[in-house]
Amino acid sequence: MNTTEPAPCAIGRLRPDRDLDAVVAIEAAVFRRPGPRKDMLLAALDPERRGHAYVARSNQAVRAYCIGQLVVDELHIHTLAVGPAWRRAGLARRLLQTVLREAVALGVRSATVAGRRATGAARQLYEGAGFTPGGVRPGYYTDPKDDALIYWRHESDHPVAPTGLPSG
Ligand SMILES: CC(C)(COP(=O)(O)OP(=O)(O)OC[C@H]1O[C@@H](n2cnc3c(N)ncnc32)[C@H](O)[C@@H]1OP(=O)(O)O)[C@@H](O)C(=O)NCCC(=O)NCCS
Repeated sequence: MNTTEPAPCAIGRLRPDRDLDAVVAIEAAVFRRPGPRKDMLLAALDPERRGHAYVARSNQAVRAYCIGQLVVDELHIHTLAVGPAWRRAGLARRLLQTVLREAVALGVRSATVAGRRATGAARQLYEGAGFTPGGVRPGYYTDPKDDALIYWRHESDHPVAPTGLPSG
C-alpha cells in the first residue's frame, strides 16, 4: 500500500483452519530468522492456552496478524507483523487496537510485548498505543544481536475505546 489512506482491510479473529498458511508466509517474508512453524502456531492458539489472535484481511487474503495469549488478567503479545506491501497505512495500529479492545472485554488489565531495541517502527507503534518500556533483556536477540525492550501497557492508564466486535 505505502499510502496514507486507511488500508481497505477488515480485522477479524484468526481462523486457524484458514489463516495459518498465510501467517507463516508473512512471518517468513518479514523476519530474518525462520518464523514459527505451523504446529507451533497451532499450539499457541489452543483454546486451553487462551490464544488471542487477530488478522487483517482484504479480498479474503491475510495482510497482517497479531498473535498473543491471555494469562490471568494480562495479554502477552507474541508476534505482530504486516506484509511488506501493506505497511504505513495504519494497519498495525488498527490491529493492535482491536486486539487490546477485545482483550479488555475479556477482563485483561495489562498487556506486554517484547521488541528489539533497534526496531524503530515497532517501538513507535507500541509507544503510540500507550506501551512504555518496563525492562531490558540485554543481548536477548541474535542475528543480529540486540537487546529486548519489555513494554507494558496498563488499561487504567490508557483505557481503550469500547466499540462493537470486529468483523470476521
Ligand atoms: C512494525 C510494523 C508492524 C508496523 O506496521 P504498519 O502497518 O506499517 O504500521 P502503521 O501504519 O499502523 O503505523 C502505526 C505507527 O507505527 C509507527 N511506524 C510504523 N512504521 C514505521 C516506520 N517505518 N518508521 C517509523 N515509525 C513507524 C508510527 O508511529 C506509526 O504512526 P504514524 O503513521 O502516525 O507515524 C511493520 O513495520 C512490521 O511488520 N515490521 C516487521 C515486524 C515487526 O517488527 N513486528 C513488531 C515486533 S513483533
